[in-house]
Amino acid sequence: MRVIVPPIKSQGIKTKLVPWIQALVPGIRGRWIEPFLGTGVVAFNSGFRETLLSDINPHVIQFYQGVKDRVITPPRVREFLEREGQLLEKAPDQGYAHFRIVKDRFNKSHDPLDFLFLSRSGFNGMMRFNRHGKWNIPFCQKPERFSRSYITKIVNQTRDVACLIHSDWSFMAESFEKVIMMAKKDDIIYCDPPYIGRYVDYYSGWTEQDEQKLFDLLSATPARFILSTWHHNDFRTNPFIDTLWGKFNMVTRDHFYHSGGKLENRRSVVEALIFNFPANIRKHNHGMEPKPEQLVLLEERAEYITQQVSQACE
Ligand SMILES: C[S@@+](CC[C@H](N)C(=O)[O-])C[C@H]1O[C@@H](n2cnc3c(N)ncnc32)[C@H](O)[C@@H]1O
Repeated sequence: MRVIVPPIKSQGIKTKLVPWIQALVPGIRGRWIEPFLGTGVVAFNSGFRETLLSDINPHVIQFYQGVKDRVITPPRVREFLEREGQLLEKAPDQGYAHFRIVKDRFNKSHDPLDFLFLSRSGFNGMMRFNRHGKWNIPFCQKPERFSRSYITKIVNQTRDVACLIHSDWSFMAESFEKVIMMAKKDDIIYCDPPYIGRYVDYYSGWTEQDEQKLFDLLSATPARFILSTWHHNDFRTNPFIDTLWGKFNMVTRDHFYHSGGKLENRRSVVEALIFNFPANIRKHNHGMEPKPEQLVLLEERAEYITQQVSQACE
């Protein structure tokens, strides 16, 4: 499966887990609903024609709404990044002076192209906002960040998502409660909420009350749902698996991630998918064996993505 990689980056991005998640998606033809959209990588690889996508962070939503409205287009992204990339390269203080200009401009006007610039030139592809809602990630310290090949990569990623986003894709900047309440029987809700205590920022505080509220809403929904969460790491077990989510189905898988670029920062975690429908699966480390009709629909969805992204969608 070719995974569509979005132009926006964030530390919690689920790119590596996409095939695992998609193999579990049941054969239904309603909407793909994603209340914690983040970079959108899971939605862009869902292969659903109709979606409802939301995040409490208005900047990601504004960016993708701009793509939908054809205000943000691949040529415009190229033109913008070439111009700003040159200014960055020539700026004093090893590029920092221009990074600060873009950061200050974004914090005042919230221009989605400035948001893209910050997302792609910040330290380690991280996204974080301080308690006043201002961009809070330092420069990656590479004045030549926007090389020709890097810009082309971002332009192509923008083109891929532009080809997939069309009139049946709806975007909202709302908290998860409102979005989950909108789900109907034939929809699937994919939830990837923040983990308590990890990367807390203006848009990703998460409390026990939030987890309880999410549990109550997902327990009551007529739709199918898949929840991404962590099962355990070397030090702790996720207490909510026992106290809340245990009544649903679950699969787990080992996952390695880097917090920072260094090898010694490689950490392992066992990821879990919790879901409310029957599935033919082995419980740990992938080994999913989707039912034949599920496989047909998975292939159909992958084929749909391939068709969409092979169009000329400038
Ligand atoms: C773990 S990230 C999602 C990552 C995403 N699956 C990806 O691969 O990029 C969690 C997201 O939830 C959003 N969020 C936090 N609190 C929220 C809330 N109460 N309602 C809706 N979204 C929320 C954050 O802004 C963040 O984008």
